[in-house]
Amino acid sequence: DTTVTVTPAAIGFVAVPKSLDDIVKVPDGYSVTVLYRLGDPINTATAAFANNGTDTGYANRAGDHHDGMSYFGLAATGNTPDPANSLRGLLVLNHENINQAYLHVNGATTVGGARPEGEALKEMECHGVSVVEIVRASLSGAWSYVQAGTLNRRVTPLTPTSFVGPVAGNAALRTAFSPTGVAGRGTINNCANGYMPWGTYMTNEENWAGYFRRDTGDVAARGGAAAKANVSLARYGIPENRPGNYAWSTVTPADAASTIYRRWNITVQPGAAADGSGDFRNEANQFGWCLEIDPFTNTSVPRKRTALGRMNHEGCWAGRTIVGVRPAFYMGDDAQNEYIYKFVSATPWVAADASPTDRLATGDKYLNTGTLYVARFNADGTGTWLPLIFGQGGITASNTTYAFADQADVLINARLAADVLGATRMDRPEWTAINPVSGEMYCTLTNNSSRTVANTDAPNPRAYTDPRTNGTVTNGNANGHIIRLRETGDTSEATAFAWDIYAFGAGSDLNPTNINLSGLDATNDFSSPDGLWFGRSSNASGLVSPVMWIETDDGAYTDVTNCMLLAAQPGTVNDGGVRTITNTIGATTGTQATRVGRAPGTALRRFLVGCKECEITGIDSTPDGRSLFVNIQHPGENGSPSNITSNWPANQSGTAATGVRPRSATIVITKNDGGVVGL
Ligand code: FEO
Ligand code: CA
Ligand code: CA
Ligand code: CA
Repeated sequence: DTTVTVTPAAIGFVAVPKSLDDIVKVPDGYSVTVLYRLGDPINTATAAFANNGTDTGYANRAGDHHDGMSYFGLAATGNTPDPANSLRGLLVLNHENINQAYLHVNGATTVGGARPEGEALKEMECHGVSVVEIVRASLSGAWSYVQAGTLNRRVTPLTPTSFVGPVAGNAALRTAFSPTGVAGRGTINNCANGYMPWGTYMTNEENWAGYFRRDTGDVAARGGAAAKANVSLARYGIPENRPGNYAWSTVTPADAASTIYRRWNITVQPGAAADGSGDFRNEANQFGWCLEIDPFTNTSVPRKRTALGRMNHEGCWAGRTIVGVRPAFYMGDDAQNEYIYKFVSATPWVAADASPTDRLATGDKYLNTGTLYVARFNADGTGTWLPLIFGQGGITASNTTYAFADQADVLINARLAADVLGATRMDRPEWTAINPVSGEMYCTLTNNSSRTVANTDAPNPRAYTDPRTNGTVTNGNANGHIIRLRETGDTSEATAFAWDIYAFGAGSDLNPTNINLSGLDATNDFSSPDGLWFGRSSNASGLVSPVMWIETDDGAYTDVTNCMLLAAQPGTVNDGGVRTITNTIGATTGTQATRVGRAPGTALRRFLVGCKECEITGIDSTPDGRSLFVNIQHPGENGSPSNITSNWPANQSGTAATGVRPRSATIVITKNDGGVVGL
């Protein structure tokens, strides 16, 4: 029902001051419980975590760098879904990356040019996804995770997956592991998430490209720089002559037949079959996808949804589901000057699909067939969704920079197709979120140091010299902004939209004419917005309260404050009008007109500040809104075993924990009076 009107409850807490302390702070009247930490065992056969670098068996422990996260309600007993249960559920969360040094006794080692197998295996298994049962006995009881939970599961870079949709079986997916291009192996650098309307979890592969080794000579082996394979690898950021993150391919495994390490080397191997089925030249094509997991069965094989395109997938969030209307899924491609996408299903929504018996088959129904679009933002506050369809808009076999072969080639090389269409290059698109009341889509644009005065445009209008980027002067858009759009006719099927900028990140003391354009003050100033989520809480009248939660990443402001979580009650697109900004970097000056929202004022307020060297990411609540789950990612990330820079979460109680290694962790925040968090 698109005509529903709602009176939102007001956000009701006193803002938390900025902080550099090594502890997570929340408003007076709230409590923090540490729920699920790096290394916590998820079965009874796995030993307690020693946290000194000696631990192994991470395929049965929480991974590192907790990121995107969703709560799935379970019935009071058994393994049946109960989306309304706020006392027992499955928490599903991403483990994006690792604090490598803390995983080993004395940091990572290399012996004779090779990584030790045991270290590399640990590092791989610390990536991926956790599914873990959590429970509280009553609305006043403490939350804990259930070590013996029968649905507990880790998905790692080693877990079998399958490819579905238009690219499944394509020659570009063939490897020695998957000669038919249908099987996949694992997932990596899983960033933001998506809660699918049929009750599954979408995990999204973001900075996967960095893990691949590519030796000098590989460009020539693939036919020279102009060859299609090399154009694609260059566009996705895999140049030759580099070892790949953590150099996993250097391992000599005890099992000589194992390919779990050499798969990370995509260099064409002499004598291997030219179709790629005998080496790992195509392994990078197996990553960059959205991967759907059914949390309610830990034997199901997760499915890579190729119709949603290949990119640095930050997240994948569903628009509103309306019976008879084709649903949309909004996605950012997080790299400088990349694009915002949406996938519109070919299948109109059916109400019964909110609780299907076969959840992954329902995913097939909505996500395997449809149209992938990319956004073009016009200067006048309008915009267009451009379809990535083979044969249309110059995406053809005769294209001179990249001869597209078919629709599968378009999806594998979505960035190249979007280039052809003339999509708008954004300031690093991170999370998307949907206002459940209005259907408007918000997207964080975290920052962009490569934005120049000359190439600002209306949706990316700022280029300035930030005086305070950890003491280093940075040019471009150092603090980021949040853009929002309203689909024409308020329907997910729209191919046009209106847009404005909801808020600009800035220190409150910075220039109000070109940096602090949203009039932020000490209660709500922030930098580098990243996580973004609308609460599903209800107010006392049972009405949806559209509180939007904003999480920040390591940005230009971390010399003043640790990263944070803010709560907002945003207005609507075009509630602020037109504004012209004067941009200045050095001697270069220019003006840029844009569309802005009204100043957020007290409707944007800081709710939480994190510990040292962490990012705040991942957020969901129980359906009653009384428990808010938040992830604290990479505390103490700049340290090492000999220079521990954070003791969180061992010190969260307020007791000193000197010498204890930091751990990424999920926390749960509750209001001491039992009320809805944030209101
Ligand atoms: Fe993993 Fe774009 O943050
Ligand atoms: Ca992010
Ligand atoms: Ca980020
Ligand atoms: Ca991070």
